[in-house]
Amino acid sequence: MRQLTNKRILLGVTGSVAAYKAGELIRELRRAGAEVRVVLTRSAAEFVTPLTFQALSGHPVNAELLDAETEAGMGHIELARWADCILVAPASADFLARLAQGRADDLLTAVCLARGVPLAVTPAMNQKMWANAATQANLDAMRGRGVLIFGPDSGEQACGETGPGRMLEVPAITEAVSELFTTGSLQGRTVLVTAGPTREVIDPVRFLANHSSGKMGFSIAEAAQEAGARVILVSGPVNLPTPDRVERIDVISAEQMLAEVQERVVSADILVAAAAVADYRPVQVATEKIRKTHDRLQLELVRNPDILREVKRAHPRLFCLGFAAETEDLHAHARAKLIDKGIEMIAANRVGAAAEDAEGVFGSDTNALSLLWGEDCVELPLAPKAKLARQLIASLAQRFDDWSKRTNGRGDNIVTLPGNRN
Ligand code: C5P
Repeated sequence: MRQLTNKRILLGVTGSVAAYKAGELIRELRRAGAEVRVVLTRSAAEFVTPLTFQALSGHPVNAELLDAETEAGMGHIELARWADCILVAPASADFLARLAQGRADDLLTAVCLARGVPLAVTPAMNQKMWANAATQANLDAMRGRGVLIFGPDSGEQACGETGPGRMLEVPAITEAVSELFTTGSLQGRTVLVTAGPTREVIDPVRFLANHSSGKMGFSIAEAAQEAGARVILVSGPVNLPTPDRVERIDVISAEQMLAEVQERVVSADILVAAAAVADYRPVQVATEKIRKTHDRLQLELVRNPDILREVKRAHPRLFCLGFAAETEDLHAHARAKLIDKGIEMIAANRVGAAAEDAEGVFGSDTNALSLLWGEDCVELPLAPKAKLARQLIASLAQRFDDWSKRTNGRGDNIVTLPGNRN
C-alpha cells in the first residue's frame, strides 16, 4: 500500500551536512506516492544544489522570499496553501531558533508561519548544540505550538563526536510522515469511478443520451479522494469541474467508456459505476444529417456492453459498487441487479415521480439512497449529494475492509446469492 498517495509534502532543507540525505528522502516520499516540492535555505544551498532537488522532485526548487518571478508563480502563501504537510529535514539549530522566534525573513520561515497544515522538523546538529539549553528551550516552545519533532538519532556524527543530534534515517522519517495521514479510510487504495451520461451518435448533429448530470459520480470521486484514495474518474459529457487531485478521462460513448475503464481498472482496488450508460446505440451512424423527408422514421438500435458486468467478470478481485435507478420496487430490483451483475454493493435510488426530491434526482443537488449488500441494507436519507457521497464512501470503505479480510484480497469466495451474506 502506498501510504502517501496523493499527499503534497513541502520539504524544507536547511544548512546542515545531513542535507545530502534530503535527496534520498525525496525519492522515498515519492515512492510512497507523495508529490514533493522543495524549499532550500541559503545555507542549505552551500551543501547541496537546487538542480539536484529539482531533478529528484520534478518541480523547480524555491529559495528566495522576495523573488518577483517566484512570487508571481508559487509564492510563499501559495506554497503554504499547496502543502498537506511541511517537513523540514534536516532542521539546523539556527533554523529551529528562527522558527521558535516566529521570524519570516526567508522563504522557509515565511512559509512555516503562513501554514495551516502540520509542520514536522527533523533536527540535525552537533550533540553539544543539541544539548544546549537554548536549543532545548526553542524545541519546547515549538512543541507547545504543535510542531512535531522527529528524532534525532544518537550515534556517530559528521564532526567526529558521538551522541544525540544525528538526523533520523530516511525510512524512519518517511514512516513518521505517513503516520500523519493514516486516518483516511481509503488511504493507499485506487478507486475508479464512472460518471455522467453517455452519448450515442445518430448522425453528425444528433445523439441519444439521458438526463444524468454526473453530479453524484463527481461527488463520489471527491469523497473517495478526501478519504485518501487515488481516484480515476471516467466521465461522459458533463458540465462539471474536475475535483481537486482526481485524474479525469473524458469519453463520449458507452464503447469508449468501456475501453477506458478496461485499460485503467488493472491498477484499481474498487470500481464505483455511477454512470448512466446508454443501454442501446444506433446500429448505423449516418454520415450525413438525416433529412425529415418521411412522416415516420425507424432507428435500429443495438445493445451496448454492460460495462460493470463485463469488468466484474474479467476482474473478480475488484470490489464493485453499482447503481440502480428504479421507479418502483426499489429494493427488489436493486437486489436482483446485485446478484445478476455479481457485484459486492449496490446503491439504489428512486427516479421519476417516485423520487423524494421534487426535481427527480437527475441534475438535482440532493438525493437519497438505499445501500444494499448481501442481505443487508442501510438507508441514506435525502441530503446534498456531497454529504451523501461521503456517507456512501464511509460505508463502502467498511464493507471493502471486511471483504478484503475475508477473501484475503482475492475476492474469490464472494457469492452474492440470497442467504449467503457477504
Ligand atoms: O442494469 P442497469 O443499467 O440498471 O445497471 C445500472 C448499473 O450498471 C450502474 O451502476 C451503471 O453504471 C452500470 N451500467 C454499466 N454499463 C451499462 C449499463 C449499466 O456499467 N451498459
